[in-house]
Amino acid sequence: MASLEIYYTFIVCLFCFSQTTLAVDNRKFPAGFKFGVATASYQIEGGWDEDGKGENIWDHLTHVSPDLINHQSNGDISCDSYHKYKTDVALLKELGVDFYRFSLSWSRILPTGYIDGGINEPGVAYYENILDLLEENGIEPMITLYHWDLPQPLHENVGGWLNETTVDIFANYARLAFDLFGDRVKYWVTFNEPLSICQQGYETGGKAPAISDNPGVDLYICGHMVLKSHAAAYHIYDKEYKPKQKGKISIVINTNWAEPGSDDAKDVEAAERTLQFRFGWFANPIVHGNYPQVMIDRIGNRSVQEGFTQSRLPQFTDEEVESIKGTYDYIGLNHYSTSLIKWREDIEIGEPSSSKDMSVQESIDFSWETSASYWLFVVPWGMRKISKWVKDTYNNPEIIITENGYSDAGGILDDDRRINYIREYLSSLLEAIYDDEVNVTGYTAWSLMDNFEWFRGYAEKFGLYSVNFTDPERPRTPKASVDYYKSILTTRCLVEECTE
Ligand code: NOJ
Repeated sequence: MASLEIYYTFIVCLFCFSQTTLAVDNRKFPAGFKFGVATASYQIEGGWDEDGKGENIWDHLTHVSPDLINHQSNGDISCDSYHKYKTDVALLKELGVDFYRFSLSWSRILPTGYIDGGINEPGVAYYENILDLLEENGIEPMITLYHWDLPQPLHENVGGWLNETTVDIFANYARLAFDLFGDRVKYWVTFNEPLSICQQGYETGGKAPAISDNPGVDLYICGHMVLKSHAAAYHIYDKEYKPKQKGKISIVINTNWAEPGSDDAKDVEAAERTLQFRFGWFANPIVHGNYPQVMIDRIGNRSVQEGFTQSRLPQFTDEEVESIKGTYDYIGLNHYSTSLIKWREDIEIGEPSSSKDMSVQESIDFSWETSASYWLFVVPWGMRKISKWVKDTYNNPEIIITENGYSDAGGILDDDRRINYIREYLSSLLEAIYDDEVNVTGYTAWSLMDNFEWFRGYAEKFGLYSVNFTDPERPRTPKASVDYYKSILTTRCLVEECTE
């Protein structure tokens, strides 16, 4: 549990919610609502050094520090989708999804990370083949440019997301991707979960490159560079490609819903602060041009008290504010779970950290159903609340749920719990759509199949299809949730018969 912060005090629930069985909403999803499934390159592809692919930070970390990963696993072979992509597209077809969200492995296309280092043609061909097959099968692609697998040379040579240089290098990679694949892609995501990239990659050490020696500083520099890189890619697409390719581009931001631990105004304020520190950190700049005021104030004040000469939260210039503002055509939301948040007095000044900057008490309700992931509790009503909060906070944007899913440990084929999770979260989403008039246009189940779950290796399984990782052929077997998801895709309805 490397990313469990010591300053997140998990307190015994004082304000427990009774667990109610939710009545499933019997309204049909609106016409045009799209359903999909998602994966990510490092988690499914394997073929880590095949056909000219370069090394990335996950290849590197899992090879040099295998003990960080459960069972010393890695993504060297994983689901072997590098060779089995035809099977995978057949699974997508069988499911009947409208779209498939997957990511490009930057180092499969540009082995050094840099354009000047040369384009790896077999890597490009791999993604072209996938796109061809998707097109043949009437499945729309949604491509994520960066799902955490930074080319290792960029980390070694320039310090990755801690260096301004990476902004231009990423922009060049993004332009290449639009150039190569954009004629067939209508949905682009620049970054998946900048919160995870920066907080876990550069503070808690819970994700590659697992740097944790400059807490309270590096993660904010990372966030700054990721936001500038996102804006650079957005503008390239907007100016050079969108006019002819007519697609949409944005970023995917993740958060739990933060439920106030009581009606007390201080708890309500602490819950809002939590959302601002997690979601607002990235959403506020792309919508309004700058970081949330609460982050600017709190990090600024603490930095002064800690003896820094300027805020640990970097500042955007006026020009940058203008350039970052509005860089979204929709908002991608990854949402899985909920936390209870209570007020706490500011943590005393000492070594900085982002959790001290936020200073809240975070807990769960022990009646919430658990999963195989320590952080994932089943709280369906959080879906409605977070969707409504995004609507209200960011001027009613188009929202796409870019990830939502449930983990179990054994690869159980009779996965009733996953079926219930999907049903209840989607039911809550229907309430957001119809009762709160939130403009949600799509939903993406994580994940198409069991895969490499980062530091948890293959121990936490999110797939609709199970994968046998001990068989060299990596056979895929449908779980019961495949039939359930398929039925939703056919009827656009969560119950046997929907009202129109
Ligand atoms: C978020 C990430 O985008 C994905 O890579 C991960 O596997 C899932 N959540 C589940 O933890």
